[in-house]
Amino acid sequence: MNILDIIAKKRDNQKLNKQEIEYFIKEYTLGNITDYQAAALVMAIYINGMDFEEITHLTIAMAESGDKVDLSSIGKCVVDKHSTGGVGDKITIILSPIIAAIGIPVAKMSGRGLGYTGGTADKLESIPGYKVEIDEKEFINNVKEIGISLITQTKSIAPADKKIYALRDSINCVDSMPLIASSIMSKKIASGADKIVLDVTVGNGAFMKNKEDATELSKIMIEIGKRSSKETICILTNMDEPLGNTVGNTLEVIEAIQFLKGEMSDDIKDIILEIGSYMLKLSGKYEDLEEGKKIILETLNNGKAFEKFVELVKKQGGDITNIYNTEKFKKAKYILPVFAQANGYISKIPAEEIGKISCFLGAGRMKKDDTIDYSVGITLNEKVGNLVQKGDVIGYIHSNDREKGIKAVEKMSKIIEISKDKIEKNNTIISVLL
Ligand code: URA
Repeated sequence: MNILDIIAKKRDNQKLNKQEIEYFIKEYTLGNITDYQAAALVMAIYINGMDFEEITHLTIAMAESGDKVDLSSIGKCVVDKHSTGGVGDKITIILSPIIAAIGIPVAKMSGRGLGYTGGTADKLESIPGYKVEIDEKEFINNVKEIGISLITQTKSIAPADKKIYALRDSINCVDSMPLIASSIMSKKIASGADKIVLDVTVGNGAFMKNKEDATELSKIMIEIGKRSSKETICILTNMDEPLGNTVGNTLEVIEAIQFLKGEMSDDIKDIILEIGSYMLKLSGKYEDLEEGKKIILETLNNGKAFEKFVELVKKQGGDITNIYNTEKFKKAKYILPVFAQANGYISKIPAEEIGKISCFLGAGRMKKDDTIDYSVGITLNEKVGNLVQKGDVIGYIHSNDREKGIKAVEKMSKIIEISKDKIEKNNTIISVLL
């Protein structure tokens, strides 16, 4: 077998067999296939797709490219949550301590930013001292001791995905159904959770732009979950506009802390309650979804979720004085207002464009080795459907470079659309697939 034949086969839109897929994953992980050969194959997969059988082989080969985490010593059912990617998505940071405070263990490995979407691991690293790279032993010990650990994938978890993920990012091949399904499910299979709730984002800022594609992706991931004995539920959520009111690492962590302290925006609250109640149901602790939602709200309102977050940050080496007093986080040098350009209803805050502006300011990586500027990003004062007057401040650009900040303000002013007609607010939860 050789990689040139495999590339040619997929280039010519033929189906790859199990051995060919396993060969590619094994040899690429070992470094025996070059990045440019892998890029050619990934591009061919992006263009010609894969059928369900190929996707399953790819997922399993990627899951088996490294170690598998054994969470059985935790002694309880571990339910994981993962998002297909979005802009302003701080759900994991908020939901994980809620679930842990309810008594369900959270052993979660999160990714870094991909394309214009942010990554939970990068966001957590914006908390001074917080270590996302700890070894598996410490990870499991933390879960046993305080019921929660949030880290990034250890090097030995699905290393093939790590390489392919970075490659896809650098050749603009992220938004591909077989590549997303195999990337997510290989990590979930390798990282040891018993059951999985997937937040499948849909819309302008998501990799799946419409409900039909998101539904197809969900069905593939649910079926892979079934075949791997990991019950999987997909919740389709709206990603036409950014989630909540901030985009950018530190800004999002501050918003998450404020949420945990009771300042809850409607769209984030909808998602927390929906995904959270399904996690509680899968754990077997609260079968009834409405009861689960009630418990989640109680855990937020009585401060237990916030306390659990403080405990988590402390355990992972973070400076908790920043959590108690968010003024301590390093701020960007320039905080520049963005003004409404007309009277009317906000009709569009395009999440993808906002994500790209945030990356342009330095909140994401253009190349895989770029360093992130945690303090930069965007604050949004308004949501789609809100009524504004020309000249109102509808948001802020946070930048450490004045020229870049001014350019970002110009871009933001152009892409936020305002309509004379009344506009309905976006529906946050689109559907649930079991
Ligand atoms: N999240 C992942 O882990 N992988 C993808 O491909 C997209 C989102």
